[in-house]
Amino acid sequence: MLGTYISESEKETLALGESFAAQLHGGEIVALRGELGSGKTVFVKGVCRGLGSTDVVSSPTFVLINEYNGNRKIYHADLYRLETEAQLPALGLEELPSPDAVLFIEWPDIASKTLRYRFLVQCEQTGNMTRKFHIEERK
Ligand SMILES: Nc1ncnc2c1ncn2[C@@H]1O[C@H](COP(=O)(O)OP(=O)(O)OP(=O)(O)O)[C@@H](O)[C@H]1O
Ligand SMILES: [Mg+2]
Repeated sequence: MLGTYISESEKETLALGESFAAQLHGGEIVALRGELGSGKTVFVKGVCRGLGSTDVVSSPTFVLINEYNGNRKIYHADLYRLETEAQLPALGLEELPSPDAVLFIEWPDIASKTLRYRFLVQCEQTGNMTRKFHIEERK
């Protein structure tokens, strides 16, 4: 599931995340870029639903990494509050993806030198209720 998708409601974004989840096997890192409120967390919520998780998905802005349980373990990081790259090793992000876990990272740019993403999801708010999602795979 690659390419550009338009969502006109939160519900549609959840469904998009759910469809995207179907292609995850485990071990993937997914970076989500986009401004505040562009739908990154809603997309991850949809992914969790797709991976059979009923855990509550919330923004990990303050705790930096949330963990949910579904068919796979889902790690959900948000690096917005990270002040310097020097704080990255302590988070141990690289160690998180295993064959039965996937890692989602919001505000990933501070880690772009050290982390290799498999998918990049570019999120954009194009209207009050509309969002554009561009999903690409990095080989
Ligand atoms: N089509 C849509 N898709 C997703 N969210 C939408 C849509 N329309 C409205 N919204 C609203 O936009 C907000 C998106 O918030 P969300 O937490 O997903 O953003 P975010 O990109 O994770 O922001 P942040 O960088 O602050 O973490 C939610 O309040 C949601 O209800
Ligand atoms: Mg968010």
